[in-house]
Amino acid sequence: MKKWTLNSWRNYPVKHIPEYPDKKELEMVLGKLKKFPPLVFAGETRHLRQQLANVVDGKAFLLQGGDCAESFAEFHPDNIRDTFKLMLQMSLVLTYSASLPVVKLGRIAGQFSKPRSSPIEVKDGKELPTYLGDNINGIEFSEKARIPDPKRLFKAYSQSASTLNLIRAFSHGGFADLKKVHTWNLGFIKKTQQDKKFKELEDKIADALAFIDACGINSDFNRRLKTVNFWTSHEALLLPFEQTMTRVDSTTGEYHDTSAHFVWIGDRTRQLDGGHVEFCRGIENPIGIKCGPTSKPDEIVKICNVINPKNEKGKIVLISRFGHDNVGKFLPKLIRAIKKEGLNIVWSCDPMHGNTIKSATGFKTRPFNNVVREVKNVFAVHQSEGSFAGGLHIEMTGQNVTECTGGAQKISDKDLSHRYHTHCDPRLNASQALELAFLISDEIKKNSQYSKNIIQAAS
Ligand code: PEP
Ligand code: CO
Repeated sequence: MKKWTLNSWRNYPVKHIPEYPDKKELEMVLGKLKKFPPLVFAGETRHLRQQLANVVDGKAFLLQGGDCAESFAEFHPDNIRDTFKLMLQMSLVLTYSASLPVVKLGRIAGQFSKPRSSPIEVKDGKELPTYLGDNINGIEFSEKARIPDPKRLFKAYSQSASTLNLIRAFSHGGFADLKKVHTWNLGFIKKTQQDKKFKELEDKIADALAFIDACGINSDFNRRLKTVNFWTSHEALLLPFEQTMTRVDSTTGEYHDTSAHFVWIGDRTRQLDGGHVEFCRGIENPIGIKCGPTSKPDEIVKICNVINPKNEKGKIVLISRFGHDNVGKFLPKLIRAIKKEGLNIVWSCDPMHGNTIKSATGFKTRPFNNVVREVKNVFAVHQSEGSFAGGLHIEMTGQNVTECTGGAQKISDKDLSHRYHTHCDPRLNASQALELAFLISDEIKKNSQYSKNIIQAAS
């Protein structure tokens, strides 16, 4: 294996990294960013890896969620708070119903750059370069906005830092105290089926807390009852930025990408001989790898070996995103190839990216039923292959958007135009996301690997 350096990825072909017309300005911006503080600390990243190792063993569940693309326009404390609340709610559903701790990982505080299916966008006969994410160019349909502008990286860094700051405050400042569970609800899902189910759960938790309080255990004395660990993640797409944020951890001498706790390689950039895999093999962060219909099982095995040569637990998360009707065709072969090699893997399911369609009204959408079908199919395959379906990766928001059709609110094609705010792919709203959490807790309980752990824990 050739020597890895911070910029060895530049010797390999890379896809989906824009050409900046002003290279000097890019260098100036990156040079300044290099001196900015890291967003996360290496010790936190190591902690996340330990938690993910528990997922490999079927002793925890990974919940990864947030916007498809964060944007400057949607940047607002209420939006951050509502995404955080929704993650807490979903985690609670999973923890309570399936008796599993949940590793909470936001697609947040840095999820800006997007690989796009086409480099150009055509509107009313006019052709322009595609929008690539707010840290690269602008979404407005004008020639000027679509030119990659390095200075946008400053704004994205600043937004990521203040988002993370608020998340840290929520996580440790009392907001996540289990006693406050009734304040986590989001106004607009009141009176829905999900709200009713969540209220029932709140009552059960209040009873349990009253009981343990009577036994002398409460959040005044037990930090675990009032704080959570909430980690951040994004796609490691824009390598010049990721390289800049990669620093040597002074306590170990290892390289950590300090732009987030966890980064993943997208379905379009996971070439074995490509720059993205090369970059990710040198950093200590846990790494996600998206696997779609075009991924070959033996290539995925090779990528895992390159990124995790020591086969350490908690280092690799394979995120399958085949599409609801393709799961049976692709996933069993992938699981068998990984098993044959004896690799330690967190198996996560992204039921979003293989189920995108165009609605009759012209919107990019995802029928909630197909999202649910993919999740159910993935759980069924893991059940029959004897592996543990350990995670969910979704695009979601705490806002009352109408971007995915279906769910308890029965959002129709015609409703999509009401509140379609996403800058890229359609997200589940809180009601749909909670519905999914309830469904998954039922699926987890059916998994034999999970039952084995519960029995072992009890004996
Ligand atoms: C994404 O997660 O936003 C994404 C682009 O996914 P994928 O790489 O799986 O298409
Ligand atoms: Co997306």
